[in-house]
Parts: sequence; C-alpha cells; structure tokens
Amino acid sequence: MSDPETSPPPPDRREFLKGAACVALGACAVGIPLAVGVRVLVSPIGAPRGEGYTVKLTTLSALPAGGAPLLFEVQVERTDAWTRHPLTAIGAVFLQRIGEREVRAFNAACPHLGCAVEWRTESKTFFCPCHNSNFAVDGAVIQPSPAARQLDALEVEVREGDEVWVHFQDFKAGKAEKIAVS
Ligand code: FES
Repeated sequence: MSDPETSPPPPDRREFLKGAACVALGACAVGIPLAVGVRVLVSPIGAPRGEGYTVKLTTLSALPAGGAPLLFEVQVERTDAWTRHPLTAIGAVFLQRIGEREVRAFNAACPHLGCAVEWRTESKTFFCPCHNSNFAVDGAVIQPSPAARQLDALEVEVREGDEVWVHFQDFKAGKAEKIAVS
C-alpha cells in the first residue's frame, strides 16, 4: 500500500495541475506583448484627445484676401512612451481670409456624421456628399440638411507677422451642440 504523504497525485489531479501551469506560463508569455498592444491602441499618440493641437497651417500671403475657402490637411508628429511617430494626418481645415489679418477656420468634418465636406465654387457653399448637407460660407446650415449644427469653427491666430496657426479639434458628430471629442 502506498504512503499518501509521498505517493504521486492521482492522474486527473496531475492533469489539472499540468493544465494550470501551462495557462499561467502562457499568460506570462502573452501578457507582456498584449499589454504593449493595448497601450499602443488606446493611446497611439501619447496626447489626450479632447485637448486638440495648435498647428501652423499656412501664411496670410497664401490666402488671397476675399478668396474662396481653401482646404489644408492637419499633420502632427506624435510621441508615445516607446516610439516617435512621423508626421501623420489627423484631419483637415478650411481656411478663408475674411480681413486684412482675419482668417476663418472650419473643421472639414461634417457635423452630421463626420464625412469630408467640400467647397463648391459655383454655389459658394460647403457640401457634404454623404447625406447632402449644405452649409453657407459662414458655416451656417442651409435647410433642408440632416446636419444638426453648423460647421465647427476653430480658433485661429496670426503670429509672427503672417503665420496662420489653428487650434485643431474634433467635435462629436450628430449632436446639435458642439462637444469636443475626449
Ligand atoms: S455625414 Fe455629412 S450629411 Fe451626413
């Protein structure tokens, strides 16, 4: 008869312990890369959304006085805990010079559901091809349009003589109020 203190555990208990050890080792092996992946996916740019980015987009001399709105891509260089990312496009802005040193800026994302808005020279209006929203040159909604608010105006600052800086920010689509994406 075997000694219960020293005899090996019964086969089903042994199998259970072996399985538990494999799971623990597997979690250790997979856990670190997973944690890195989640960090990268959750915060790919190392800057909290909702705060926006202040970027130099152009100069006054590139915006003809009284001219039509012009579209500028917004690019930022981003850094997270591990990596420095090269310039990446995060959105687009319409700029229009409406005075000697006054510039109007709109986020080019449609406030209805976020499609890209385009400028139509013939009608002098902004148009969203996704669901046919129309906006006046000052951003106001032209009815009938599904958009519940006007185009999202952005803060503009003219610095250093003629540099045009914009505080780029995204806002929640589909809302009547302008709510910053956080
Ligand atoms: S996303 Fe622009 S009208 Fe719907």
